[in-house]
Amino acid sequence: MVTAYDEPSGRLCDAAGVDVLLVGDSVANTVLGYPDTLHVTIDDMARHTAAVARATPSALIVGDLPWMSYHVGTDDAVRNAASLVRAGAGCVKLEGGAIRTPVVEAILQAQIPVMGHLGLTPQSVLAMGGYRVQGRDLDAAKLLLDDSHALADAGCFAIVLEGVPDALAARITAELGIPTIGIGAGPGTDGQVLVFHDLLGLGNRPLAKFVREYAQLGMLVTEAIGRFAADVRSGAFPGAEETYAAGADLRAALGE
Ligand code: KIV
Repeated sequence: MVTAYDEPSGRLCDAAGVDVLLVGDSVANTVLGYPDTLHVTIDDMARHTAAVARATPSALIVGDLPWMSYHVGTDDAVRNAASLVRAGAGCVKLEGGAIRTPVVEAILQAQIPVMGHLGLTPQSVLAMGGYRVQGRDLDAAKLLLDDSHALADAGCFAIVLEGVPDALAARITAELGIPTIGIGAGPGTDGQVLVFHDLLGLGNRPLAKFVREYAQLGMLVTEAIGRFAADVRSGAFPGAEETYAAGADLRAALGE
């Protein structure tokens, strides 16, 4: 799974053969320039989901329910999940464990598949007191294990495990009958997810330990745009091959 936020990122990830495109609320940090994911709304998420859907990918599109779109009541949550489906998502994702099972069940009753998300859940950054690995001691690990069972029992078809120790992620994966998708959860999950901008070296934030940069496109992009600017300043761009040349008659009429 890779995150995608617009038509180009959806198209490129789909062409690369990924199975799942997550229109993540990380769009807040990666594209919209916010400091955290608490700033994006359901309207933002619907707009980005629709843009990814316009790539008509073969991959499953997961629409991420943003903070406060499923916290106020189940009716509200179902309506918001439906708006992501109408925008083109094949399912929705939400953060949290046992506390979220009524919402998961309500969305499932509307025939919308739900992906869970446990561990370092960025929408809980204020409650967690920062972005910290979760489930490090036995009590916290047991709570996460219980939460994973609660989500699976409620009907989630898969669970993202973010920022948890490898042995805990492997244990949850072994115990659950549904797939887990890890990010900062070690190699023992069924799948893995990375954020598009992290994977491609397009971000401007320090990379987390769990990120592997498969390219450094940011440097390439800055270098290419710098060459364009230099060519414009020197007059080397545009050249004859990038110019619609006027015919002789027009030139004469213009007095050239
Ligand atoms: O929004 C997002 O990018 C996510 C992934 C980190 C799983 O939720």
